[in-house]
Amino acid sequence: MTQSGLSNLSAGPSDELRPVLVTGAAGYIASHAVLSLAGAGYRVIGIDNMCRGSSAAIKALKEAWPDRFQFYLADVRDESAMASLLEKQRPSAVMHFAGLKSVEESCWSPGDYYDNNVGGSLNVVALASRFGVRRFVFSSSATVYDANQPCPVDENSALRCTNPYGWTKLQAERVVRDVARASGTLSYALLRYFNPAGADESGRVGESPEGEAANLMPAICRVAAGQSPHLKVFGNDYPTRDGTGVRDFVHVSDLADAHLAALGYLERGGESTTINLGSGTGFSVLEVVEAFVRSTGQKVPVHVVPRRPGDVAEMFADTSLAQRVLGWSPSRNLERMCIDAWKWQTRVC
Ligand code: UD1
Repeated sequence: MTQSGLSNLSAGPSDELRPVLVTGAAGYIASHAVLSLAGAGYRVIGIDNMCRGSSAAIKALKEAWPDRFQFYLADVRDESAMASLLEKQRPSAVMHFAGLKSVEESCWSPGDYYDNNVGGSLNVVALASRFGVRRFVFSSSATVYDANQPCPVDENSALRCTNPYGWTKLQAERVVRDVARASGTLSYALLRYFNPAGADESGRVGESPEGEAANLMPAICRVAAGQSPHLKVFGNDYPTRDGTGVRDFVHVSDLADAHLAALGYLERGGESTTINLGSGTGFSVLEVVEAFVRSTGQKVPVHVVPRRPGDVAEMFADTSLAQRVLGWSPSRNLERMCIDAWKWQTRVC
């Protein structure tokens, strides 16, 4: 393909496999989803604008699945590039992961977040509908829930965001729902992730946070690797078991498998749906640190510092819908997440 903003970086497809377009393929969760999809026999067309994605991930995906993974450098907001790609590849499904994901950055750069996350989603889903794509899986977040309500939160719990990042996810959900409904032929699954952690067990891909790690597991890994002197524990005065924040961690490979399950559900004619993806169990910050130390044998010194603005005491999912509708529940525990995250850390540093 020669049009601007789109350059083919890999070998041609093999036609007998079902094609799926994965946006943001160089990102943390999407790269794991590519492995699951290719492993299940799909032909994956990955795109990314590489503004945040990892080129090492693309290389690893091509090495893992040379006949099932193709990569195009493209931006989801580029209408002509996306239209050409959809016209040429005719995917039966789109998994849309591309987007910006830093809460802090979204507060000082909201325009970029609305442009990428809402504008990008609108472009992708509208074009998907125009080019006859039948199924759409969207990467959403538990951040759309009002955090001031009792846990576990189910899919009908109250919604309220406290930062632009959250609002972009909620608005993008709305966009996908409305465009899909109007199309009459596009069915969707909106997947609300809780706290993804860990990395591919065989070390092919993992999380590559830029700058200071904002999320807990990468922050722990950096301390264990000696890149930070101690883990800052943001508050130990929450009304929780040990005073530290409680979250619902889910192994990224389980999350990837859930995308496969969601696609299978839609392919079997399942109705459009919105589903929580978590483990259903909350672990505190200190419990995660303990699990990490126990399972990896590394030292993780901690310092308690004041609460991080915007944080809540606890957030964990009611995952019964995922189990009932998708037949999915996570199979990897917290120790596995710690071991795989650490394995990835020692590989990349
Ligand atoms: C954060 C984002 C959320 C996003 C989610 C998953 C904020 C306010 N929220 O949520 O929008 O969907 O990540 O990517 O940023 N912690 C420490 N020390 C650290 C890092 C974290 O004590 O160095 C604590 C936090 O205070 C929290 C828990 O660990 O209690 C989990 O934090 P984190 O991994 O950032 O996830 P969330 O707060 O759930």
